[in-house]
Amino acid sequence: MKMLATVADFSAALDAERCAGRTVGLVPTMGALHDGHGSLVERAAAECDVVAVTVFVNPLQFGAGEDLDAYPRTLDADVKLAEQAGATLVFAPTVAEMYRDGTATTVSVASGMTAVLEGASRPGHFDGVATVVAKLFAMTGRSRAYFGEKDFQQLAVVRRMARDLSFPVEVVGCPTVRADDGLALSSRNAYLSDEERAAAPVLHRALRAGAEVVLAGGRDAAAVRAAMEAVLATESLVDPDYAVVVDAATLATPAPLDGDLRLLVAARLPSARLIDNLGVTVADGMHRKDD
Ligand code: PAF
Repeated sequence: MKMLATVADFSAALDAERCAGRTVGLVPTMGALHDGHGSLVERAAAECDVVAVTVFVNPLQFGAGEDLDAYPRTLDADVKLAEQAGATLVFAPTVAEMYRDGTATTVSVASGMTAVLEGASRPGHFDGVATVVAKLFAMTGRSRAYFGEKDFQQLAVVRRMARDLSFPVEVVGCPTVRADDGLALSSRNAYLSDEERAAAPVLHRALRAGAEVVLAGGRDAAAVRAAMEAVLATESLVDPDYAVVVDAATLATPAPLDGDLRLLVAARLPSARLIDNLGVTVADGMHRKDD
């Protein structure tokens, strides 16, 4: 497996693959890879001839109170996991290489999608994500890019950015990988005490309760929210931040509920803040739970 560190080498390697008739899959990451990332690489490897994994801790998406230096950096282990999952190359540039001329240009998706939910407590975060992903898309060229549905708002923002800026990149959302008890895999789960870990699956149970309201014909967002909040309230260790139902593409709440919907929850536990989400589709009076 190839390791690349410069933008020029990365772009040239993928151009050469496409010239040889091979399709390119891209899996952007900030490293600290776990099985959730592994599943993105496996999906990319199943659908594309060449899989490029990028490992870059992007300073632009960290806020003032967030500790960029404390973010885990585990490149050797990341390279091993990426290779085992089927990656062809890993691109791991330095900050100086990625932002060679600083950052006079920022990509900013409209605030309706970026100042809400996770963006409400992390101002500027999604501009940082949109900017680095736009740069990675420009460097990669024609490709399919794989993102986890776990960070659903990020996925929606990236999809919108890629469409608005006409990148020749098909953004592919991949289902959340869950433990047997429903807890979504996340590097943050490692911070949870045994007691917190036992309480954490309540997020997934809350989402299922919200989805049941829609599946039973409920079209009122407040009723869906109330069902989710009632389940979250059953765990005293869990302090809910938000529980919402939104349109999957715009992240606005339709009234009445209709189309591709996403239920999203966020909650603080003593040692970590967790997020999770679930899809439900309502079309012409029919409804389907997506995962
Ligand atoms: O999800 C992440 O790891 C990051 O936000 C991403 C998409 C790699 C951009 O830095």
